[in-house]
Amino acid sequence: MTDGVIATDRRGKVILINSPAEKMLRVPHESVNGKAIIDVLDIADDYQFDNLMGQEAPITLDRSTVNERYILRVNFSVIQRETGFVNGVIAVLHDITDQEKVDQERRDFVSNVSHELRTPLTSMHSYLEALSDGAWQDPDLAPKFLEVTQNETERMIRLVNDLLKLSRMDGGREHLDKSFVNFTDFFNHIIDRFEMMKKDSIKFKRFISKEPVIIEIDEDKIMQVLDNIISNANKYSPDGGQISFFLKKFDNKIEVAISDEGLGIPKEDLDKVFDRFFRVDKARSREMGGTGLGLAIAREVIRAHGGEIWAESNRGKGTTVKFTLPYSELPEDDWE
Ligand SMILES: Nc1ncnc2c1ncn2[C@@H]1O[C@H](COP(=O)(O)OP(=O)(O)O)[C@@H](O)[C@H]1O
Ligand SMILES: [Mg+2]
Repeated sequence: MTDGVIATDRRGKVILINSPAEKMLRVPHESVNGKAIIDVLDIADDYQFDNLMGQEAPITLDRSTVNERYILRVNFSVIQRETGFVNGVIAVLHDITDQEKVDQERRDFVSNVSHELRTPLTSMHSYLEALSDGAWQDPDLAPKFLEVTQNETERMIRLVNDLLKLSRMDGGREHLDKSFVNFTDFFNHIIDRFEMMKKDSIKFKRFISKEPVIIEIDEDKIMQVLDNIISNANKYSPDGGQISFFLKKFDNKIEVAISDEGLGIPKEDLDKVFDRFFRVDKARSREMGGTGLGLAIAREVIRAHGGEIWAESNRGKGTTVKFTLPYSELPEDDWE
């Protein structure tokens, strides 16, 4: 949207307002002409017209409602003759809602990262302190304390690696290294790998037709996506639980689904689990070595491929994570 512009006479009454400004302020044209600009902007509590003439820094108007964020920035400049006689003021309004949102997300991200790093560091610090205070000589405690510090170090390494992956994708620096892959085989191999490591009490069931499905993907990145989703399903599966794997082919896409019979995700959190650092249960996720970034990375990768990812869940009855990837039948003449 173009900038809004309001001009006033030398007493601060509005003499001109363009239609973007009317839209931004949500006022009709007729009601504004001749009115004091500080009333039109609704800043009369904080400013008088005389202040605006010396106002060099822009002012920010937060017009957010409960349902919608809406933030405007207003720059003022004085229209002055060479003699110094003031003719009026021009206010330029700019909608900065989106920019403000990005800034806020960046601030939240930095604060989250700091917090996520501080937690393992604080815990390592206490255990190392206890060890150097004498626990190193205790044959029962020492190995336990060392194990804790090692686990925390490993989680921090995972966290930093995940952060680097995300930051490469954010910068658009990470290009996709695509090649044609038979997704049926690819998917089965990954499931095989998890099947070898899984607990005996968890059952795997595949609903995957043998038919080859050739699609163009970045194999390493899609493997990370599947790793993240399957390890979540594993982590959250109860003893005796079943994990089901589905692969469906449509005209222009494939759909992959992985279902477990774990505790599920509350409805209001189904979208949020793809946000960075969001966990339904922070303590539990950390305890299991989670970084809270697995699904956020998965979403970036799937979107970069032009697909979609989402979660479905009936609380207490398990979770299904689904994603799609674009697919098209290979044109015959490519193989001539
Ligand atoms: N299969 C699942 N069942 C229940 N909750 C899940 C499942 N997968 C993900 N979640 C929830 O989503 C959150 C985010 O997942 P993820 O980004 O992989 O982070 P992490 O696994 O490191 O905690 C998890 O902390 C958990 O609360
Ligand atoms: Mg995870």
